[in-house]
Amino acid sequence: MEPQPAPSSSPRPEGGPRFVYYTASTLNGFLADEDNSLAWLFAVDSAEMPDLSAQLGDVGVNVMGSTTYEWVLREEKVLETPGRWQELDYLGDRPAFVFSSRELPRPDGADVRLVHGDVARALPEIVDAADGRDVWLLGGGDLVGQFWEAGALDELQVTFAPATVPSGKPLLPRRIGPDGLSLRSVERFGQFAHLTYDVGR
Ligand SMILES: NC(=O)c1ccc[n+]([C@@H]2O[C@H](COP(=O)([O-])OP(=O)(O)OC[C@H]3O[C@@H](n4cnc5c(N)ncnc54)[C@H](OP(=O)(O)O)[C@@H]3O)[C@@H](O)[C@H]2O)c1
Repeated sequence: MEPQPAPSSSPRPEGGPRFVYYTASTLNGFLADEDNSLAWLFAVDSAEMPDLSAQLGDVGVNVMGSTTYEWVLREEKVLETPGRWQELDYLGDRPAFVFSSRELPRPDGADVRLVHGDVARALPEIVDAADGRDVWLLGGGDLVGQFWEAGALDELQVTFAPATVPSGKPLLPRRIGPDGLSLRSVERFGQFAHLTYDVGR
């Protein structure tokens, strides 16, 4: 069969933003190891990673769980470095919704909104903030699973690194089969394999 060129992005659902889970993963499906380390990722030449810049223009809102948020605060020294959050191209000035049961520090001048509880209840505010652009779900995997359960997951983009770890934070700990996932494209970036799936609602 002749390979077919893949459309560049899944259609935007009528009247709402696309919910896109964009992440890197080990080959065996972990976002981070047990210690929340990404050393397995940084060991690979990052110059080979897919270039995000073209897609970032379509992103209106970021969503993440508290472990991911605290990783960014810690590793990027965000609280000690005024303006650092906004400098990070994948965060910038976009509203960021952080799910946590706790009160967490927020960087000065950044639009970080803490969300306690149910994804379905938070959706109207997230959709409103996205203003018609994409909602990027940065992880972790269980939080993305909660969005899937709430009917708010349209696309997966996963960059697989040539690495495995014995255990860690799972990519997407839900049972979803071919009726819910459809492979749209497979791209190679150096040692990385970048897979894009459409998710059935
Ligand atoms: N490979 C990559 O590209 C990539 C991408 C993203 C993340 N990561 C890494 O992967 C790891 C992910 O960590 P993780 O699996 O623990 O996931 P996470 O989603 O970052 O954090 C999970 C925490 O979020 C909070 N939470 C989740 N759902 C909630 C809800 N509905 N209401 C309120 N709070 C909620 C809970 O914490 P509390 O209530 O205790 O605050 C929960 O323990 C991190 O180390 C991160 O840095 C890697």
